[in-house]
Amino acid sequence: MNRSTSDETTSRLGEVRKPVEPCSIVIFGASGDLTSRKLIPALYHLHKEKQMPADYRIIGFARREKTDDSWRQELRQALDQFSRTKPVDDAVWKDFAKHIFYCKGDITETPAYEQLEKTLSAFGSQPLRKNLLFYLATLPSQFGVVVEQLHRAGLLQKEGSDGWQRIVVEKPFGHDLATAKQLNAELTRYASEHQVFRIDHYLGKETVQNILMFRFSNSIFERVWNRDLIDHVQVMVSEQLGVGQRGGYYEEAGALRDMVQNHLLQVTSLIAMEPPVSLDAEPIRDEKVKLLKSIQPLTPQDVATQVVRGQYFAGAVNGEQRPGYRQEPKVKPDSNVETYVALKLFIDNWRWSGVPFYLRTGKNLPSSASEVRIQFRATPHVLFAAQCGQHLDANALTLRLQPNEGISLRFNGKVPGNSLEVRPVRMHFSYDSEFGAYTPEAYERLLLEAMVGDATLFIRRDEVETAWQIVDSIRSAWNGKPLSNREFYAAGTWGPVASDDLLAQSGHAWHEPLVVK
Ligand code: BG6
Repeated sequence: MNRSTSDETTSRLGEVRKPVEPCSIVIFGASGDLTSRKLIPALYHLHKEKQMPADYRIIGFARREKTDDSWRQELRQALDQFSRTKPVDDAVWKDFAKHIFYCKGDITETPAYEQLEKTLSAFGSQPLRKNLLFYLATLPSQFGVVVEQLHRAGLLQKEGSDGWQRIVVEKPFGHDLATAKQLNAELTRYASEHQVFRIDHYLGKETVQNILMFRFSNSIFERVWNRDLIDHVQVMVSEQLGVGQRGGYYEEAGALRDMVQNHLLQVTSLIAMEPPVSLDAEPIRDEKVKLLKSIQPLTPQDVATQVVRGQYFAGAVNGEQRPGYRQEPKVKPDSNVETYVALKLFIDNWRWSGVPFYLRTGKNLPSSASEVRIQFRATPHVLFAAQCGQHLDANALTLRLQPNEGISLRFNGKVPGNSLEVRPVRMHFSYDSEFGAYTPEAYERLLLEAMVGDATLFIRRDEVETAWQIVDSIRSAWNGKPLSNREFYAAGTWGPVASDDLLAQSGHAWHEPLVVK
């Protein structure tokens, strides 16, 4: 689509944003990968784009012996590697680095928090001492102790009138419903729910945020967004990468916990939810929870017929040989952990009753792509049957979340010429050609929102718990059942045969990701 030049109206939601107040960001687990790969690059770009508050500090909290300067040097090296813009701008870095500090300490020990309190007090200005964003890039088992220690050190209050304190936590948020509830209880012992910001980085992606804009700022799509016109929906996140060095984590997680519990169910809820009463955090999250609660519960019998799991064995992805999952480092040689899941869900409400939602995700698949395909119903009658046969492609709308972000509408058109030939054609919107290649990292948006205190893009307590309920019903049906032969797939293929059968039962088929030329 060409960029429009006239009658261009842009509604700038950003203009009503709350300003970002000066604050200190304390990163627990600062020596970890997340800090160097994601958090520091995101904060550097926010600084570069002048989106950080007028004054701020970043304090890394970890056990290793480091000085402010040695940590800055380490981060600079990491930034050179992981920054989305290269080369790193020296002048911007120098200015940014002045905001970075290091605090050595053991997460479980009180003196470390006293030291942290001293570091914060030394900043002098009231907002830097009292507006505190605690980023818990730690193991979930450490959340409880961190919030307790912060509270004891006087750094975290439930409803403090003195500045604000917020806690940002990473996934995995629990292992199942029971552990998620326990984590929620630990976090909200010393903080209120509105101070807790649970990350699902998919919500930080532009294209995922655009789902709501797309649905609720256009009159033509929302009218067809229901069971009358939609035949089924496919939500897919495929990954070319295997498990690699993350075998230890993955053995505990598997694709269902790693991807479905969060990213896929989040995307599904945005696609299927009812319009919220406003764009504020709570109305949006209310609707998402309502949607998750309307997903038809899965009995063990349903799991047997509606959920397929798979595990990759050795194969080639794009010509590159990959080991099987059971041969990956830190993976048990007889592991039954799934690296692929496909499921059919139904949503019990007026809008979606009877419409299958197919979700699938997997590692070592032929390509990396995340997209949602809305497959419309076929025409009630094929007028051109005599000329083109009975089969006419149904219309489809594809929301391509990544890469090659865009939206495509597929419809039928006449092939030019004297014969009456009909074939599907495509109308395509590409983010890059429309808006230029500006794709901020999800973490930039998420960190900014957490500093502003807007929880819209974070997962609420009841949301995370409802998602676990769905996942738990599947896990418990799998319990103790080893993978069958039909559930393995070669690396570099689109998953086990059983996954194709799942759709074929209802006359459907998976669509391979859109190839954007
Ligand atoms: C993470 C999962 O949450 O999301 C990873 O733990 C997965 O296993 C990743 O690779 C995918 O995220 P993205 O942004 O690359 O699609």
